Amino acid sequence: MIQLIKIMLPKEISKVIVPPIKCQGIKTKLVPFIAKSVLWDGNGTWVEPFLGSGVVAFNIQPKKAILADKNEHIINFYKKIQTGEINSSMVREFLKENGEKLYKEGGDFYYKVREDFNQRQDSLSFLFLNRSCFNGVIRFNKKGKFNVPFCKKPDRFRSAYITKITNQVKVLENIIKDKDWKFVTADWRETIGSARKGDLIYVDPPYIGRHTGYIDVWAQQEAEDLTSALKRSSAGFALSMWIENKYRKNQYVIDYWDDYERKTLNHFYHVGSQESLRNSMEEGLIMKSGCFA
Ligand SMILES: C[S@@+](CC[C@H](N)C(=O)[O-])C[C@H]1O[C@@H](n2cnc3c(N)ncnc32)[C@H](O)[C@@H]1O
Repeated sequence: MIQLIKIMLPKEISKVIVPPIKCQGIKTKLVPFIAKSVLWDGNGTWVEPFLGSGVVAFNIQPKKAILADKNEHIINFYKKIQTGEINSSMVREFLKENGEKLYKEGGDFYYKVREDFNQRQDSLSFLFLNRSCFNGVIRFNKKGKFNVPFCKKPDRFRSAYITKITNQVKVLENIIKDKDWKFVTADWRETIGSARKGDLIYVDPPYIGRHTGYIDVWAQQEAEDLTSALKRSSAGFALSMWIENKYRKNQYVIDYWDDYERKTLNHFYHVGSQESLRNSMEEGLIMKSGCFA
């Protein structure tokens, strides 16, 4: 009898699930490309050491996963959705109440919430700041204080926007509930170190070789250590990396990954508000042999 073998990846994704948290380098546009490029049976653990917004895992939806990031605020937010400590109704209420105050008091209120968040580190305030700060970036100063300025739109939390965020949380509640997922605050070394044969590590580090404004400055040494850890691991891996833009090629890829196979995708990003100012970027997925779809 022929037995059908179920595989997790490759997978066709026609509608991307968008997470409630935004971050620099979010892979919303690249999720379909990632999902159809990787080969993995899904029997082991999906290991994601640089979770960011979580958009990749939330779309792949592995049964078992370790979803880690050094940013404890992201991890705590998702952990609380998992335990039910935060739910979509609470999100709606919180954004409605605080959105009205933002409308009345403007920037002063945003900075009040930011100050309060830096004292108490409340997850709902983190969401509020993430969705009303400048460009949806996550950035902390050397003392670990969130320091992104206001987006300068006091009417940010209009009812359609609140509904959109609330729905994003609701969708996530449903995805998380039947999964064996562990959200962990950890440095990537620990996360990659825990991966075993049969697991798939999806790696999306802060942009190497550029100023990033992430929690830590991503140093050259760190990039080299990451390369060695991946090459040493007995697990499979897929590494997201920009390959080249209009101005230059990524030297890190040339130096460390030239002998590895990769799939690439060209996409455009806008510079400023004008449609005509578009730059092309080649994005790549560098994979361990055996992980190619
Ligand atoms: C490019 S972002 C990941 C984006 C994510 N794939 C997405 O689509 O939203 C990189 C992430 O790495 C995290 N990070 C930076 N340094 C780290 C470290 N040493 N260990 C673990 N995570 C780290 C940042 O907090 C950030 O969330």
